[in-house]
Amino acid sequence: MIKPHGSDELNPLFVYDSEKRKALLVEAEKLPSLLLNSAAAANAVMLGGGYFNPLTGYMNLADSMSVAEKMHTVDGLFFPVPIVNLTNEAGVEAGSRIALRDPNVEGNPVLAIMDVDAVEDVSDEQIAFMSQKIFSTDDEKHPGVSTFTALGKTLLSGPIQVLSFSYFQADFPDTFRTAVDIRNEIAEHGWEKVVAFQTRNPMHRAHEELCRMAMEQLNADGVLIHMLLGKLKPGDIPADVRDASIRKMVEVYFPPNTVMVTGYGFDMLYAGPREAVLHAVFRQNCGCTHLIVGRDHAGVGDYYGGFDAQTIFDKEVPKGSLELEIFAADHTAYSKKLNKVVMMRDVPDHSKEDFVLLSGTAVREMLGKGIAPPAEFSRPEVAKILSDYYQSLDQ
Ligand code: ADX
Repeated sequence: MIKPHGSDELNPLFVYDSEKRKALLVEAEKLPSLLLNSAAAANAVMLGGGYFNPLTGYMNLADSMSVAEKMHTVDGLFFPVPIVNLTNEAGVEAGSRIALRDPNVEGNPVLAIMDVDAVEDVSDEQIAFMSQKIFSTDDEKHPGVSTFTALGKTLLSGPIQVLSFSYFQADFPDTFRTAVDIRNEIAEHGWEKVVAFQTRNPMHRAHEELCRMAMEQLNADGVLIHMLLGKLKPGDIPADVRDASIRKMVEVYFPPNTVMVTGYGFDMLYAGPREAVLHAVFRQNCGCTHLIVGRDHAGVGDYYGGFDAQTIFDKEVPKGSLELEIFAADHTAYSKKLNKVVMMRDVPDHSKEDFVLLSGTAVREMLGKGIAPPAEFSRPEVAKILSDYYQSLDQ
């Protein structure tokens, strides 16, 4: 199986030994506590599950600035996005051991224990610099920028031991997986070539077909549909609805044992190209050999060019940094001429009118009124689940 990023073996930071974990939870009750923000909590969950291998904890300021600037830590490890614990809380001391509490679960239970190596002040200029590099903009209207710049000005760095996967296991018992789980399942299937499909949206015909095309063109053994289960911007479809619609689509339209429907506990960054590279890193950690990167991957508004998330892999990711390869997909849509979903680059004789193209807003409006989008755009079973959800919002 493909090696994880940066090491021969995956090194998840979750304490899998239950006796040790119990002892650490007891110890945590006596430690000074820090209530995390959602971004730092999501980082802990990802570190716990092995997704951010080979990191051992939160990055310090020098690494964060270096990663933001050139996608490498000071020691030369390739990493696309700073993995940070930024806070506004004062009083944490370097050299201390603290309990990190979960902001997303009632009662704020302990999520992890951290050995704080350094406590560093981050200037407004440094926040703006990182923001510009990660998101390619410092526009506060960008949802990732506004979240990042509000996290805090004190950076806590150091190793962590993760003691819980937050709310993800309880809320998505069938779907939430760690990178460890996914590697194990891929091994059980006996798959060698595995294509990952990142998603934060329900899957319409174009997405379904992208998975099928990638699988066929790469001659892959299976597809990992890997959905984001964490926080999204207002208006995006909640994870449970998305999960139900994706499961239905796979059940009805894919042969058994060719697709794994899974999810991971991370908040969406909307960082476009940089997030695509992060997606590639953590799919390699899951044991996938390929990641589908299509149009406006991890994008929002018109902050990124339609295919910037593909070109970054050629222009800014040094050769050999990753073993995983991307499957670069062109804009995909249903062709009325050919009566099937196609990639636009494969049909140069087509004009815009030859495709079934619907904007997200138009689809939402139809579903909200109980009108099914055309079957060329959305499978009826998928449309039904989404329509029920949108109509429930109006009641
Ligand atoms: S993302 O933010 O998670 O990337 P989304 O769930 O919408 O958003 O997209 C999942 C993947 O499908 C991404 O790789 C995206 O580029 C790709 N994609 C979505 N729609 C299309 C399309 N019509 N044509 C080509 N690629 C697409």
